[in-house]
Amino acid sequence: MNLTDRVVVITGGAGGIGSALARRFATEGAAAVVVADLDADAARAVADGVGPVAHAAALDVTDEEQVRALVADTERRYGRIDLFCANAGVTTSGGVEVDDAGWDHAWRVNVLSHVYAARAVLPAMLTRGGGYLLHTCSAAGVLTAVGDAAYTTTKHAAVGFAEWLSVTYRDQGLRVSALCPQGVDTPMLAEGLAAGHLGARVIAASGAVLSPDQVADSVIAGLAEERFLILPHPEVAAYALRRAEDPDGWQAGLRKLVRRLRA
Ligand SMILES: NC(=O)c1ccc[n+]([C@@H]2O[C@H](COP(=O)([O-])OP(=O)(O)OC[C@H]3O[C@@H](n4cnc5c(N)ncnc54)[C@H](O)[C@@H]3O)[C@@H](O)[C@H]2O)c1
Repeated sequence: MNLTDRVVVITGGAGGIGSALARRFATEGAAAVVVADLDADAARAVADGVGPVAHAAALDVTDEEQVRALVADTERRYGRIDLFCANAGVTTSGGVEVDDAGWDHAWRVNVLSHVYAARAVLPAMLTRGGGYLLHTCSAAGVLTAVGDAAYTTTKHAAVGFAEWLSVTYRDQGLRVSALCPQGVDTPMLAEGLAAGHLGARVIAASGAVLSPDQVADSVIAGLAEERFLILPHPEVAAYALRRAEDPDGWQAGLRKLVRRLRA
């Protein structure tokens, strides 16, 4: 897929990766870019910066009614949605002690919102014989996010759901990609580093921290090739392979890194 004349929706569009995608999709010639975020003012600022093709929308991705309404409004305004980017995400920075409300919130934002998006866009996409879903997951979804149990668990679920969609609907024209970056220089990682969270320090020590614009470059390349797994950090593929071939050895290596950072 190329972006020329495409109608795109991006959730979490006001954030680091979402706003970089919005800018890049507009540069690539998108017909419309809907920047949807819980933070309506920030979404408006991003849309203003992107220019006339962009439209800001207030959206809580955990509210299915709001997701449905956004999809219906976009289809009414622009006639269709070619690419829906389920990009909003949250961390918990905790382990098993995180309370049920924290787990529930991570589950609703990182997983259930992707289900809501698919439910809302699939009927029109399947009727038209095509459409594209980009799920922002994480390297945590194919590996482990040290220090964040709910993030690891929900991102694994997000990759699983994206894979299920791709296997189930690819023959009907639906294309699906799972974007799985490691460290990206956005408020999410910056806040973790500023707070000294172990997980953020492990991410920073595990490879390059990319700019959101570099992630957008990878997304453009991945969409052009209609690749399922988009890995802005290519080393994640090697880590995932090592994890599959030798889970105990891979876990031992990660624990060693954690011990070094804790020392
Ligand atoms: N930054 C990283 O290192 C990194 C690495 C891998 C994956 N990711 C994933 O990338 C995605 C984007 O994160 P980012 O790094 O740009 O972080 P970010 O914090 O800059 O952006 C996240 C955006 O999501 C929005 N959001 C949160 N809850 C929402 C809700 N309920 N409804 C609508 N919007 C909501 C926030 O307002 C924010 O604008 C997330 O899914 C994240 O898990 C980030």
